[in-house]
Parts: sequence; C-alpha cells; structure tokens
Amino acid sequence: MHPSIIEGIIEFERRYYRKFMLRTHTCGELRIEHIDKKVKLCGWVQTVRDIGPFVFVDLRDRYGITQIRVAIKDSFDTNTENYTEDFKSKKKELLNKLGREYVLQIEGIVEKRTESNPNLDTGEIEIIPNSIDDIIVLNKSEVPPFKIEDNTDGGDELRMKYRYLDLRRNVVRENLMLRHKMAKATRQYLDDQNFIEVETPVLIKSTPEGARDFVVPSRMNEGQFYALPQSPQTFKQLLMVSGFDRYYQIVKCFRDEDLRADRQPEFTQIDCEMSFIEQEDILNTFEGLVHHLFKTVKGIEITSLPRMTYADAMKFYGSDKPDTRFEMKFVELTDIVKNKGFQVFDSAELVVGICAKGASEYTRKQLDELTDFVKRPQIGAKGLVYVQCKTDGTFKSSVDKFYSQEDLKAWATAMNAEAGDLLLVLSGDEHKTRKQLNELRLEMGTRLGLRDKNTFSCLWVLDFPLLEFDEEQNRWFAMHHPFTSPKPEDLHYLETGDLGKIRANAYDMVINGVEVGGGSIRIFDKTLQAKMFEILGFTAEQAEAQFGFLMNAFKYGAPPHGGIAFGFDRLCSLFGGADSIRDFIAFPKNNSGRDVMIDSPSEISEEQLKELSILVNMKK
Ligand code: AMO
Repeated sequence: MHPSIIEGIIEFERRYYRKFMLRTHTCGELRIEHIDKKVKLCGWVQTVRDIGPFVFVDLRDRYGITQIRVAIKDSFDTNTENYTEDFKSKKKELLNKLGREYVLQIEGIVEKRTESNPNLDTGEIEIIPNSIDDIIVLNKSEVPPFKIEDNTDGGDELRMKYRYLDLRRNVVRENLMLRHKMAKATRQYLDDQNFIEVETPVLIKSTPEGARDFVVPSRMNEGQFYALPQSPQTFKQLLMVSGFDRYYQIVKCFRDEDLRADRQPEFTQIDCEMSFIEQEDILNTFEGLVHHLFKTVKGIEITSLPRMTYADAMKFYGSDKPDTRFEMKFVELTDIVKNKGFQVFDSAELVVGICAKGASEYTRKQLDELTDFVKRPQIGAKGLVYVQCKTDGTFKSSVDKFYSQEDLKAWATAMNAEAGDLLLVLSGDEHKTRKQLNELRLEMGTRLGLRDKNTFSCLWVLDFPLLEFDEEQNRWFAMHHPFTSPKPEDLHYLETGDLGKIRANAYDMVINGVEVGGGSIRIFDKTLQAKMFEILGFTAEQAEAQFGFLMNAFKYGAPPHGGIAFGFDRLCSLFGGADSIRDFIAFPKNNSGRDVMIDSPSEISEEQLKELSILVNMKK
C-alpha cells in the first residue's frame, strides 16, 4: 500500500478512535442485557474499596456510577498461606492509579453481580478488567478540597471557590439539568405559539428608573458609559413597532441591587412581548406557558390559576405576592377591639389578626418566640397580642386585663376560629402593620408545616397601582415601569390629581409566595407616554434625552402591545424545591456580588484605566 494511504488510515483511526472509542458506554448505561459484552468506560474515581484479593472502584460520570471489580490473579500462595509478593506489588501499582477524582479509562467485561445494589441504576452489573493494564489513568487529580458527594463536607464559600468541583455533585448537576429542561420546554411552547427569539444588545444606555445600573466605560467615546440592561424592556417594545408581533428571549439581565436568596446581580428572564393584544390575551398565553412547564417538567396538572387584585392581596395577605398554599387570611378587628381601655389598640390605625388553626396549645416559650420574631428590627412590630381558643371553650390571652371572655369570643367569631385555634393580632400604622402580619403569617405557615415545597399554588395578581409616592424623595415613581399603561377607566384621576388611585394594566404571576413574573400592557400613544414622563418628574428635555428613541419610534405607527418577563432562575428554583436561586445558576455570585472562583470584581491595570480615561478615587 502506498505510504500516504497508510498514513491516511492511521490519521483516520487516530481521529475517530479518539472521538468515538475512548468509551463505548457511559457510567449510567450498562444493564443486565449487556452481560458478557466487552466495554470501555471513562470517568472519575468516586470511591475505592480494597477487600482482600479484590479492589472495587466506583467510576462516576454525568450519567451515573458503575462498579469496577479488579481481581488480581494468582494472588494467594497456598504454600505460605499468604498473598504473593507479586500480588502485593500489583496491588500497590493498582491503588496508585486510583486516587480520588483521578480520570480513568477502563476496559473490561460486563458481569452480573452476585449481590445487586438497588440504589444504583447499574447495580445489577459490574465491570471486570482483564488485568490492571486495562485501567488507564487519563489524568491525575489533587485531593479535592471537599467530598464530591451528595452530602458534602464543603461549606458554601469553599464550594463556590471550587464551583467546577461542586458541579460534579449529583444535586447541583441535577439542578442544572432541570434548568435545561425548563429552557427547552419554554422554547418549545413559545415556538408553537409563533414567538420568535430575537437577541437584543447588552451594551445599552443608562436610564434613571428602576434599580441601579451596572455601567461599562467606553474607550472609543471618552468619558461616556454604556449600561448593562436591567431588562430588554425598550428593545422589545421597539421590536413590536418593527412588526415582530410575538417576541421572546431567554436573556441575561443586570441589576446593581442588594442581594437576597432570590436575587442575583445577573439573572435570567424569559422575556416576552406581543402586539395586538389585550391583558386577557397575555394572561391566557402565559397561563399556557405555566401549565406547559408544570406538565412537561414536573408531570403536574395545574388545575386552576386564580386571579386576585392587588387591593385584595394587600388586604388579606399584606403582600403583593401572597403564599396561597395556605389560607390564614387577615381579619380586621379595628372596630370590635376599641374602647376597652387597651391604649395600644385604641390609638391604632389598624388592628388585624390571623387565625392559626390547631395552635392553641402553643407553650409560653413558643409564644415568646413569636413575639421576639415580630419585634426583630427587620420586622419592627412593637408587640404581639395572642388569644388561645382553648378546647374547653374558654379563651386565654395576653390582654385578659382589658378584654372579657365575651369580648374574646367576639374576636374568635370574627376570625372564624374554633376551639384549638390560636389568634395572633398586630396593631399600628395600616401599611406597616399589614407588612408585619405578612411576615408573621409566613412564619406561622412554616411552623405549622403548611408550606410544602412539593405543593404549588399559582395565581395572578392584577390591577397594581400605576404609581407609588416616595416620601423621602417627594415624588412619584412608576410601580412597574414608565411604559405601563393606566387603566382607561382610571385616567380621569390624572385630571383630579389623585395619582395614587390610578390602577395599571399590570400583572404579576406569583407561585408559592414568590413573584416569578411580571408585566403590563404598554402605553403606545406618544402623548400619554410624554404625560407619564412628566408625572415621573422628567422635563421634556430629560425625557427626550433618556427615552427619545422610544417616543420617536411611537411616531411611526406603534401597535397596541404588552408583555411579561418571568424570572427564569426563580422559576427553576421553585420547580426544584430550593430556597436560593444560586443553586440553579452554574456560576453564581455570593451575597456581596462576588464571584469567589474567578475573584471578580477585581482591580484593573493603570494602563487600562488610562485607556478608559478613568481616575479611581479610592479615598471613600
Ligand atoms: P420585573 O422587574 O418585574 O419586570 O422583572 C421580571 C421578573 O424577573 C425576576 N427578577 C429577578 N430574578 C433574580 N434576581 C433579580 N435581581 C431579579 N429581579 C427581577 C422576577 C421578576 O418577576 N421588563 C419588565 C417585564 C415586563 O414588563 O415585561 C421587568 O423586567 O421574577
């Protein structure tokens, strides 16, 4: 054969052997039907057990774990009744290949295990290499800083520093697989509904509304900055002006705000916009998305998606994102508790309570804990009044001095309480008291086991106020954003100046007390949009400088439109039953906004600063 043909064959084999033949199966794939097959597996050493003449290795990859049983031949010397020297040196050689997290390639025959392991999908089989030479170390590993196991010994910060190792753990990987499934199901649903995914820019213009912007200096435009988008809001509206009709994007958004378990500085939205629709169309389309996600990803049929007005949510739950997995609605007692000599209630703007079913036997210690809970600075109540509805029909309360059994019975009746229930009552300024009782209600829900992570209660919250007044800055702010349209029937309040009474065509999707999405029908009339900017305190020049591009676009035939954005990380963590969205982000930031793995943010060189014409003032 001509040498170049031989070379060609060798090159072909080299390439395809490497590509396809490094392994024949994954570590989660082999079953009883593969018995007697010769296979090659690749993976990481999870555990090694050295038992007499055998060494067992659990080999792990993304798909699972397969047991390898290495039997060293001629191990026993019947004359000396001991292991042979050859065996001992071979065992040493073998164990040297089996460090924790070493990357191995193993060739062997699939055999049935004498005793199967029901905890492993591959638990009925094991792989028997012919000799220790069939175990090839593809790469060694240093001893990892924590155990790569479901219950790891690594603390949060350590796991984040070595996130690439943390991601080897089943739990974390499964979270990301769930995220992948959710994204796939989202795209499938929206594609079926004629939505098209369009990418919008990441270097945009800083705008004054909403959270703080992350900004990026421009080298080519000295002294000027881009901002990273808090959402693609204006771009999706422009796409509607362009006639795209149905847009979506699974997109990164950036907000420089204080972080919490459900907030990251960069997070992902399922961002959507539609033209020629009314609010009802949006609600139906995205109810459909939520149904589809629950069905395809969790196999759950969501039977109903109730709707609640913002006013009712605040009245009955003290929150615009009520956790409706449990009832425990607020009951106002202001009228029936006054004029009995209890100064605290007499002077209160609002007295409001909740009824905790079956909690009347709470001990003194438990009741004190609840009082301490509401008095925490983050919650800020002055105290807590309780009434125990005893099973013998009597009432015991923290205000027995002021209220008779008859009085307390009237409270219980108003609150639909039965013998065995515990009433918890707060009082004070209306707005603050509702917020405080919301916290207490959630705490009681948790204590009474009413917030099961595998139960899902979804609802729409509708009719948000268009504007909210900020006392400190003495100005109105858009509750959602400046492009949200007022309800036409409330427009007359613009004339009367009752701005707080104007309701918006805005809606939030809430699941288990988490705001997973929000949106609105937009203003598409340039005059109304200009009026809105004026109310928000922009001069005509400022509005032009900030949002001129949008107002200009509205001159050229903007269709009626509206949209919504879902917090994708929040949706994933809810579906996965986790409290923190960090668990569903491959490389998240910590609570100080740092990526401890790549050590960012970090300083940049003098040269870079100079190029950007930036002088850093470190005195602060
Ligand atoms: P909004 O600001 O309500 O609306 O954001 C939409 C959803 O995004 C999620 N979210 C976050 N998730 C994680 N970390 C954060 N820091 C964070 N901030 C928000 C929430 C929220 O419901 N452009 C509008 C949408 C529209 O009107 O169409 C917008 O961004 O789940």
